[in-house]
Amino acid sequence: MRVIRLAITPSTQDVARRLPVGSAVVADHQTSGRGRLGRAWDSPPGASLLASFVLPFRDLALFAAGVAAARACGPEVRLKWPNDLYVEGQKLAGLLAERHGDRCVVGIGINLSWAPEGAAMLDRDREELLADLAGELEDWFGATDEAILGAWRERSMTLGSWVRIELDGDRFEGLAEAIENDGALIVGGRRVTVGDVVHLRPAPPLAAG
Ligand code: BTN
Repeated sequence: MRVIRLAITPSTQDVARRLPVGSAVVADHQTSGRGRLGRAWDSPPGASLLASFVLPFRDLALFAAGVAAARACGPEVRLKWPNDLYVEGQKLAGLLAERHGDRCVVGIGINLSWAPEGAAMLDRDREELLADLAGELEDWFGATDEAILGAWRERSMTLGSWVRIELDGDRFEGLAEAIENDGALIVGGRRVTVGDVVHLRPAPPLAAG
């Protein structure tokens, strides 16, 4: 992976989108970092891993990236549908996958030495984490859909939870029952492909024996 390092940039996503597959952009600080659904992603300089990777596009890109990032961050990390990494109920990191033709720019922001109120941090060396992440992304973007979804479901904190789905002009509650083969979440029998998921009650622990 060819890594471009920047001190400051509006968003690593916008630098990466002009680069070929196999490139990555890392910044100490972003002035217009963005998240899913057009939200801002802000953090103080040097406090997070802010990176964008250029990968071959695939339909399950966000899910492959989620599994890769969770594995790079550690065994305690859980995945919240569709793009968040959590530790002990607190958000640690967010992912953003943006398609550009046959390429996909996967952006990730991981809180290292600072986190917003109520969010988690990871006590890891940034360069080491970047190298682990690059390796995992390469592996998981080469994996089958079945392997990706299997690994995603295993690490999911959403499946089995009672959730509220918030869509433009609509909201409903239900049990997060399944993740379909295209990544859609099934809540109370309804297919969810966009919107926000609020976890209301966690999945019950697995029965012993
Ligand atoms: C989210 O939680 O909604 C996704 C957040 C993604 C943030 C990362 S930081 C690096 C890359 N550059 C951006 O502007 N966004 C992503």
